Amino acid sequence: MAPTDAGERGIAVARVRLASLTTLKVGGEAEVWTCERDDAVREATRDAFRVLGGGSNLLVADAGVPERVVRLGRAYADLEGLGAGADAWLGAAVPLPGLVRRARHLGLSGLEGVLGVPAQLGGAIVMNAGTRFGEIGDVLQEVDLMVDGRVERVGAGELGLAYRRSALPPRAVVLRARLRLTPSTPERVAAAEATVDAARRGQPKARSAGCAFKNPPGDAAGRLIDVAGLKGTRVGDAMIAHEHGNFVINLGAATAADVVALLERVQAAVPVALEVEWRRWGLPGGDPPQRGWGPRPAAGSAPAGGGAPAGGGAPAGG
Ligand code: FAD
Ligand code: EPU
Repeated sequence: MAPTDAGERGIAVARVRLASLTTLKVGGEAEVWTCERDDAVREATRDAFRVLGGGSNLLVADAGVPERVVRLGRAYADLEGLGAGADAWLGAAVPLPGLVRRARHLGLSGLEGVLGVPAQLGGAIVMNAGTRFGEIGDVLQEVDLMVDGRVERVGAGELGLAYRRSALPPRAVVLRARLRLTPSTPERVAAAEATVDAARRGQPKARSAGCAFKNPPGDAAGRLIDVAGLKGTRVGDAMIAHEHGNFVINLGAATAADVVALLERVQAAVPVALEVEWRRWGLPGGDPPQRGWGPRPAAGSAPAGGGAPAGGGAPAGG
């Protein structure tokens, strides 16, 4: 269905198969609200919602989800904020690969560790994406969040960032973030990236959502799955990659049911408890939807678009 109503409210609404918005290419339909301004995000989060970033760490049920899915649009994806200095405010829909490239071009260091992570900035913050060479939390200073219809500025130290996790306030949407990079040279940044690139070289190129399981303390899930002889194990079109035991790849027509069955088979076969790294929508044990901030009181309720500042890269307030 074609997007509707993008102009005045700064929101485009369309029913979309979420498979098309996730890297694993699995998942049914939902109503997707793409927001171009803070007041649009405010409006979109009035009722129960889920937030979608780059869809690169997500398994969505075959039936889709009944809640609206909120995405940040192009106004939040502008890279221009990077360049004026080592500190930059960037919208949460900025694609990480483009950001990493631009930082290298400008000779700004700090993002080398997230080379090859196909996230948006907001999703990278929520997952504290990274590698053993560095994570997004290393350069994060503060964020603007939409929480219950209000924009709040929160310091990175209050976000509970740890290995592949964060503790944002419930119902928060990351709108933008301030990163602090370190002046260096393109050559030095490229050299540091080469180390990260080498560490990633064995990862499969096929459709996936990255590593399926978190590494248990002191070990690697990929190694455990490998020594259990599970590479190549297949349920429908979902398969444990031959290149790396912690990647589930979609050979073409995998369903969420296939993927879930495969994850369960792995968990049953590996002698160490493995925690799924992916966010899961509409599936047993998965993430519940976020509660909306409405309904507002019947009398004197605020009009749609209650005055929060607009724009992706522009900071909200002092
Ligand atoms: P999504 O998958 O869209 O969402 C993830 C979670 O964040 C969801 O709960 C979603 O609701 C929430 N979210 C997204 N945006 C916002 C927002 N603006 N506000 C509030 N909540 C939001 N990860 C690593 O850490 N290291 C790696 O090396 C790595 N390699 C990968 C390689 C491949 C090929 C792939 C496909 C994935 C890889 N990943 C890796 C996993 C994935 O890229 C990260 O988890 C990433 O942080 C997910 O970001 P996203 O924008 O795609 O978020
Ligand atoms: N290993 C095997 N067999 C395999 C896979 C790995 O024996 O099939 C062994 C390797 O030889 C190595 C160890 O396991 O000794 C760790 O493997 P690797 O270096 O590939 O790293 P990883 O721990 O599997 C982590 C992240 C990746 C990130 C790489 C970057 C997790 C769960 N995974 O992988 O992140 O890209 O390091 O080096 O933390 C993600 O989170 O989605 C992700 C892809």
